[in-house]
Amino acid sequence: MADTLQTPLNLFDYERMAAARLDPMVYGYYVGGANDEITLRENRESFNRISLRPRMMVDVGERDLSTVILGQRYATPIITAPMAFIALAHPDGERGVARAAGSLGIPMTLSTMATTSIEDVAAERAGPLWFQLYVYKDRGITRWLVERAETAGYEALVVTVDSPLLGKRERDVRNQFHLPEGYTAANLNDPSYRRVSAVDQGSGLASYIASLYDPALTWKDLEWFASITKMPIWVKGILRGDDAQRAVDHGASGIVVSNHGGRQLDTAIAGITALPEVIAAVNGRVDVLLDGGIRRGTDILKALAFGACGVMIGRPILWGLAVNGEQGVRDILTILRAELELAMALCGAPTVNEITPDLIV
Ligand code: FNR
Ligand code: LAC
Repeated sequence: MADTLQTPLNLFDYERMAAARLDPMVYGYYVGGANDEITLRENRESFNRISLRPRMMVDVGERDLSTVILGQRYATPIITAPMAFIALAHPDGERGVARAAGSLGIPMTLSTMATTSIEDVAAERAGPLWFQLYVYKDRGITRWLVERAETAGYEALVVTVDSPLLGKRERDVRNQFHLPEGYTAANLNDPSYRRVSAVDQGSGLASYIASLYDPALTWKDLEWFASITKMPIWVKGILRGDDAQRAVDHGASGIVVSNHGGRQLDTAIAGITALPEVIAAVNGRVDVLLDGGIRRGTDILKALAFGACGVMIGRPILWGLAVNGEQGVRDILTILRAELELAMALCGAPTVNEITPDLIV
């Protein structure tokens, strides 16, 4: 690594190094949130306000981070969040993330707006893959995306419901964010769907989404998704207990509590703050994941203490990739895993099942 910074020790070190390397338009797209970025900051601050109540004199000589998600045992409670346009960070792109995550037994969630196709990522045969769906007005295209993911062996469908329109990301407006020459939304066929071009004013991505995504989705549509696939469905972007209940009533197998990394509705509640209400509402009927602002092992422990079965990690994946490609992603995930293991040991919770609500206040 050419950076003058010493070996990065934590995810914030990676973020600083990535900031220095990335093209400003790409960095602004990755790092930014909506409007005043209040929710973006709150995603971090809300974790810092929660204190731990560690138990002493517990035998933590052996630690086990494995956990059950949708009935399947995984090595850790960590999943990579779906993110658009990953190849802008590094040529290893989505394939690199799939290989890094797969080598640790961590599921990778591929975005509809990936710069590498469903099939090309699956061809890596790296580890468990999930597919994130954005719903096009053209239901034929939507169905075709879901069927391709299922055929290619993806194990879950993550339907994102917080983006009927794109949030107002002022960094992207100023930079007229678009996909540079040589990059495409590789999951689509038609050139008008594959390109995310610059527009005269504002974000090219916001224009793309406003013209092609379906802003009229309702809970009934969830039943349609469930009818066209055997993959279990996660509903991503839930911040209220009543919505979580509706999702379950309409066929969801799991809920992802998320404010989209502060990129959609600014001043929206932080996921970790909304999590207890969602956990209470679903009452054990389905699994619940959390994302947004997770940068430390203690953040993961707090999410699990509230009752989440796992967490999704967003931007740090991009920072790892920008700094050192596939190996950088592996380093990010390994740091997080080691921090979680240490936090479990110091909390007197040697297994994930022992991460209980009494550990937090
Ligand atoms: C995202 N996110 C996202 N979510 C989604 O469902 N589909 C997508 O295509 C994208 N694209 C995307 C791009 C970029 C650059 C970012 C930063 C985020 C949201 C993502 O899945 C996740 O909810 C947040 O990133 C989690 O917050 P942290 O970990 O980034 O703080
Ligand atoms: C984003 C979209 C694509 O957050 O989900 O940029």
